[in-house]
Amino acid sequence: MAALPAKADSHARPVLPSAARVAMEALNAQADGLHIWLRTQANAPAQRPWFGDVGLEAGGRLAAGRVGANQMKAAPHRWRWQEISPYLGRIAEIARTADVSPIEFADRQQFLLVNPGLGGRLQVANTIRCAVSIYNPGDVAPVHMHSPNASRTILSDNGGYTTIEGERCAAARGDLILTPNGTWHDHGNDGETPVVWADILDFPLMEFLDCVWLDEDFPGAGAGNARAQTPVYRDGHSARLYGRGGILPGFVSHARGIGQGISPVFHYRGVDIRAALEALRGEAGDPYEGITLRFVNPATGAAVFPTLDYAAQLLRPGEATQWKRETANNFYIVLDGEGTTEIAGRQFDWATNDLFVVPNFLWRRHINKGAGDAVLYLCSDRPLFEKIGQYRAQGRTADGEVVQLVS
Ligand SMILES: [Fe+2]
Repeated sequence: MAALPAKADSHARPVLPSAARVAMEALNAQADGLHIWLRTQANAPAQRPWFGDVGLEAGGRLAAGRVGANQMKAAPHRWRWQEISPYLGRIAEIARTADVSPIEFADRQQFLLVNPGLGGRLQVANTIRCAVSIYNPGDVAPVHMHSPNASRTILSDNGGYTTIEGERCAAARGDLILTPNGTWHDHGNDGETPVVWADILDFPLMEFLDCVWLDEDFPGAGAGNARAQTPVYRDGHSARLYGRGGILPGFVSHARGIGQGISPVFHYRGVDIRAALEALRGEAGDPYEGITLRFVNPATGAAVFPTLDYAAQLLRPGEATQWKRETANNFYIVLDGEGTTEIAGRQFDWATNDLFVVPNFLWRRHINKGAGDAVLYLCSDRPLFEKIGQYRAQGRTADGEVVQLVS
């Protein structure tokens, strides 16, 4: 699907008289090498003003020329599992038969999702990267830590394992496993069949900030890196400590690793998430979201990462949410069911394991068109927007009135 059009600056202010522009450009030529630029173009914000903008279609525009050179707009997009998943099998087959496995020269066996509006960058939105990975039996991603916050959402029935800060998390479909900034972690598949999961990271944001680092020298491993940590806790450590809502252990620090602002819980089990959603399906829910559950830091109630918030969402058969838009970006993985999300006037049908992105500022609503419940997992960069004082949300009531949900 094509990117949102990069509209010409059709409503720019009047251009300078040509003689003045020519004179300015001549000065620019003279100043070449001084690392300055004499302004000859107007600013052209890529978004429309928030409060007065009530149209459902995608807004904003890109400036032309020098001013707009670094502007890009993420496009709403859906990746169909039916179309992309065969490539996982092909990667795995190459890995099984090749002289050098892709995991050796590329670190991971995966494909990354590329938003068609972002010029080939490896990102689904301005702050979020998503890769879908496959691990053959015996594959190991050696222990390391890094500055980006990362997660994996397990898509195969059994998902191998991730060990984080000495806690081994044996994974199954629907699990959310966190590898927060500043935590040692390693992954692998010690099962009999390939495992597949979706990695989500705030990598593009860290990249923009020039803050990406990776440490592969796990201490205590002797010379160089250990391939895998030896677990220091019994399985289910997070759940034992934090698995009962509203009760916190008083004898442990809630800080793990050297990560800042992160949840001490690393493992949210799909079976628990689904049971919790089903227990709430008789509630009214939210008219804009249906039944939702947030994954939070149990010690603070905050999002699990300083930058990203994760949630699970249940839509009942026939349920259609009302239109909503946010200044934050939302990236979804369909865990179950089939339906449609309308984004800025365009329809994106989805089915199990499809992935889709609703870029910031765009109106969207979800419709469950299947016979059963639909379950979506959501990753949003809302915490980042809140921290910088830019989070806003609007909704449309059933009779079409635009209301400020977060002003
Ligand atoms: Fe990692």
